[in-house]
Amino acid sequence: MLRITSPTPRWRLPREPACENRPAPEAALVAAIIIVLRYSPYADGWTCALVTSQIFSRSEILELLQARGPAQEALFSRACEVRNARHGRAVGVRGVIEFTSFCRKDCSYCAMRRSNRIPDRFRLSADEVLEAAACAQACGIATILLQGGEDVGSDRLLDEVLPRIKRELKLYVILNVGERTRSRFEQFRRLGADAFIMKFEASNPALYAQATHGSLMDRLENLRRLRDVGFVVGTGNIVGLPGQTLEHLADDLLLACELGPDYLSSSPFIPNEGTPWEREPVGDLDTTLNFLAASRILLERALIPSVSALEKVRPGGQLRGLLAGANVMTVNCTPSRRRDQYRIYSRERFVVTLGHVGRTLEAAGLDFVRGGILPAPQIGQGTR
Ligand code: 5AD
Repeated sequence: MLRITSPTPRWRLPREPACENRPAPEAALVAAIIIVLRYSPYADGWTCALVTSQIFSRSEILELLQARGPAQEALFSRACEVRNARHGRAVGVRGVIEFTSFCRKDCSYCAMRRSNRIPDRFRLSADEVLEAAACAQACGIATILLQGGEDVGSDRLLDEVLPRIKRELKLYVILNVGERTRSRFEQFRRLGADAFIMKFEASNPALYAQATHGSLMDRLENLRRLRDVGFVVGTGNIVGLPGQTLEHLADDLLLACELGPDYLSSSPFIPNEGTPWEREPVGDLDTTLNFLAASRILLERALIPSVSALEKVRPGGQLRGLLAGANVMTVNCTPSRRRDQYRIYSRERFVVTLGHVGRTLEAAGLDFVRGGILPAPQIGQGTR
């Protein structure tokens, strides 16, 4: 078992960004290779993962994912040290507005999947979105996340609301609306969206195909487009998908390192009614928290949310996420009459309120920051 606290640990969690722990010439070489690979148009993700694994080996990650008891505590406290040193005790609070439950995808884990017959799918009107955003702002929230199924039919709505949110409310806007063409992403960016979250969900191509009925390569291509058009980019995975192994999860972390996202989000798998996976077991909380803590150590710059699914798995789960190194929480700002119709994380999902965020941050000894720790939008990357 991994012993981080012992005076002579088998290996030590890095005190500095991982590559700086290596002898200087090797670190410089590896860093140079990563830069070349990451920014090369011909970069092969798996080569990058291999290079990254020299910095924090796959077997070391496997050990971290399985840490329990004192080893797990040491992992969490190291993750919090890294977070506090890099970001202070500030937690970014954002508001999510779930504006469409239509979706053209057919993901095995999601009740909003195309083939699920749902009588009450909805799209908010522009005024409803604006009203919800204004309400978030009145609560002191400066960042909103516009989230929906992959619904190209709602793009006109976004075309209308994005400029208004920027002009009338001056909020920082994150989109999580699925895959699009490059010109569509450019349009969203032009209209004022600052950031875009698109989770890779699973780094193993076969598992990705089972989970989403799509292609991992398409998803990675979409992530590349997002970066190219100048978005601040978030990605992430699901922990505990049916058929997922610890090795798959270690590869998820290596892929996340290679992508170098601005946000990284991991949620435990929640079996969802009306899906092929409704009878599968819920994702393991400890493994999810360990994944979160390991990603905090490896991707110290990233903003990492403590997601509501953690609370759904176990009351107090989001507090544990913060104690494992997370630094973002998301308040649900979807109009209340629509919330129950948005079938993410099952019918009885946990709806995060401002009060819950306040209590959780207080328990963690962390501070509510009104959007103050967001990464700045990328400059000068819009023309590649
Ligand atoms: N379990 C865990 N995570 C889920 N997501 C959606 N449905 C589930 C589920 N049943 C996550 C996906 C998606 C994000 C919006 O929510 O990772 O990208």
